[in-house]
Amino acid sequence: MSVSAIIVAAGSGTRLGHPEPKAFVELGAHPMLYYSLRTVRDVTAVTEVIVTLPPGKEAGANLTVQRAGLRIPVKLIAGGAERQDSVRIALSMVNADCSVVVVHDAARPFAAAEVFDACIEAAARRGGAIAAIPVADTLKESAQGTVIATRPRQGLFAAQTPQAFRRELLIAAHAAGSGQPVAATDDAFLVERLGAQVEIVAGSSLNFKITTPEDLRMARALIAADRPLSCRFE
Ligand code: CTP
Ligand code: MG
Repeated sequence: MSVSAIIVAAGSGTRLGHPEPKAFVELGAHPMLYYSLRTVRDVTAVTEVIVTLPPGKEAGANLTVQRAGLRIPVKLIAGGAERQDSVRIALSMVNADCSVVVVHDAARPFAAAEVFDACIEAAARRGGAIAAIPVADTLKESAQGTVIATRPRQGLFAAQTPQAFRRELLIAAHAAGSGQPVAATDDAFLVERLGAQVEIVAGSSLNFKITTPEDLRMARALIAADRPLSCRFE
């Protein structure tokens, strides 16, 4: 089986508020994007990588790709206005030989290669699969800063990436979603709308998305703490 990996890295990181586009903010010795490239390098089924970039980051991305040491082709392309646009553009660059496409946020630097493997395997079998974790907190609904209800969390999951799909299914889902008024924040939503099945694969709380300055501090602390112990995040 031949698998194409799309790493979406074209966002500006509005909520992070850093002068650099988010995927290019340094975590340890490397920009955030590097860590996802390293993980994908260890996913043996992946035969090509497509990375969506923000304007002006081609040279920086090239250097990062070289340092990550992938032995498969890596295409660097300009992203779109929304995440959904970036994925759709990347999909148009995917090799037609690929039967499965796995999409991952560069903003999740701590995804494990094994979770990619599990999503790819489940997508080949079922059509689609996402990494997700059960919601652990009690859920409150509020209005004007006041709790108005407590919602049962039974059966609720927080979706992560990687998310993997059969190639034709993901292309059809994005084609159907491109005219819709509200942009999807993940790919599974578009696939679900087609009525296709999406399997849940165990994600991890370590696979959090760096969204805010607090998330960035946590990510940097994790990398700093890990360095003396192993080379995982080197
Ligand atoms: N992304 C992308 N193209 C866009 C928007 C987002 O490739 N037009 C990517 C981001 O680079 C990120 C992932 O999608 O890796 C998840 O998006 P998010 O965490 O929302 O990142 P940003 O859009 O950069 O952040 P913000 O929403 O705070 O601006
Ligand atoms: Mg965003």
